[in-house]
Amino acid sequence: MSGDLIVRPLEQADVPSVVGLYEEAGLGGSEVSGAPEQEVLSKVERDPDLFLVGEVHGEVVATVMGTWDGHRGRIKRLAVRGDLRRAGYGRRMVAELERRFAERGITQLRLEVWAHNSGGLAFWEQMGYVLEPEIRYFVRSLVDGPD
Ligand SMILES: CC(C)(COP(=O)(O)OP(=O)(O)OC[C@H]1O[C@@H](n2cnc3c(N)ncnc32)[C@H](O)[C@@H]1OP(=O)(O)O)[C@@H](O)C(=O)NCCC(=O)NCCS
Repeated sequence: MSGDLIVRPLEQADVPSVVGLYEEAGLGGSEVSGAPEQEVLSKVERDPDLFLVGEVHGEVVATVMGTWDGHRGRIKRLAVRGDLRRAGYGRRMVAELERRFAERGITQLRLEVWAHNSGGLAFWEQMGYVLEPEIRYFVRSLVDGPD
């Protein structure tokens, strides 16, 4: 069903589709709240114009989340539906998010990728992102249980 991708900010009705894309792509992180829909809605409140979905023929097939921490822009949870990968949709999603960041004067971007995600690493490199080997990522949980 590949076709023209329309990229636009997420709307409430898109939330189940976005959660489905996360599940398919193995992008977890909502185990604590146990309510992924609620988590998406609370994230979109912060930077509504940077939380994007891509649709083809009215179906949501891609998503990406941009956030601004007051210092740098961060890119999170890029996912393209499994059967539509390698058609340039990931590139389109990121290009639109970058355009929106730049429009706000946010020019320094960061993102994290699991070391085992070879496809993700190749994608970001292809998009012009540079791997920073000097940074180590620390985590700490203030509650018991998984992140
Ligand atoms: C990573 C992901 C978003 C890429 O989306 P996509 O729509 O397939 O990407 P594109 O078609 O725009 O790819 C652009 C270029 O990136 C590179 N690329 C993308 N996926 C790749 C892969 N699996 N292996 C190697 N290179 C890849 C290629 O150079 C590609 O150009 P080409 O197809 O002309 O060779 C998609 O594979 C996905 O949803 N993965 C699961 C979730 C994930 O890992 N997200 C990233 C971590 S935040």
